[in-house]
Amino acid sequence: MVESIKIKTLITDEQIQKRVSELGKEITNYYENKVSEKKPLIIIIVQKGASIFGADLARKIKLPSDLRFMRVVSYKGETKPQSDPEIFDEIKSGIEGDNVLVVEDILDTGKTLVFVKDYLAKLQPVSLNFAVLLVKRMKRKVKVPRIKFKGFNISNKFVIGYGLDFNEIYRNLPYIGVIED
Ligand code: IMP
Ligand code: MG
Repeated sequence: MVESIKIKTLITDEQIQKRVSELGKEITNYYENKVSEKKPLIIIIVQKGASIFGADLARKIKLPSDLRFMRVVSYKGETKPQSDPEIFDEIKSGIEGDNVLVVEDILDTGKTLVFVKDYLAKLQPVSLNFAVLLVKRMKRKVKVPRIKFKGFNISNKFVIGYGLDFNEIYRNLPYIGVIED
């Protein structure tokens, strides 16, 4: 891809794939005796940021799974959160009594995850866990839910690629990078 900005690689394609495979194994082991074809693992991929991570991770989870999608918007074409997150698609059929795994791209302020957690917890799943690819090291203003399956800890910088965008561009980079000034 020809980029008009300079991007410094933070996590390579190979590093991502290795970690995603490990997470897939951890998740498979954790839910092995909890799910079945009758009661599949409900994997909720938060769009659009977690679409690529979610697609890769789901294929490394060797269990009967039901893939669902929800869209939460918190950044509106900027690199800083603009407002409270909003949910655009809802989980159509119920998740009551189900094991639910939410797949998210990144934990930044934590607002999105808290919002998603509160929304889904009301639907009474038997368990609700989070798989988050990137966790930014920073002081968070809200109390975030425990992240059971974590990809990488990163410093507090704006990152792009592997699903993450800057003004909706660069989601299709196969690696994670930082924009250089
Ligand atoms: P939070 O609500 O502040 O934790 O933000 C989470 C959402 O903001 C993520 O799901 C991302 O979509 C977006 N986001 C946060 N940090 C970044 C970043 O560094 N690059 C791109 N998107 C980000
Ligand atoms: Mg997101």
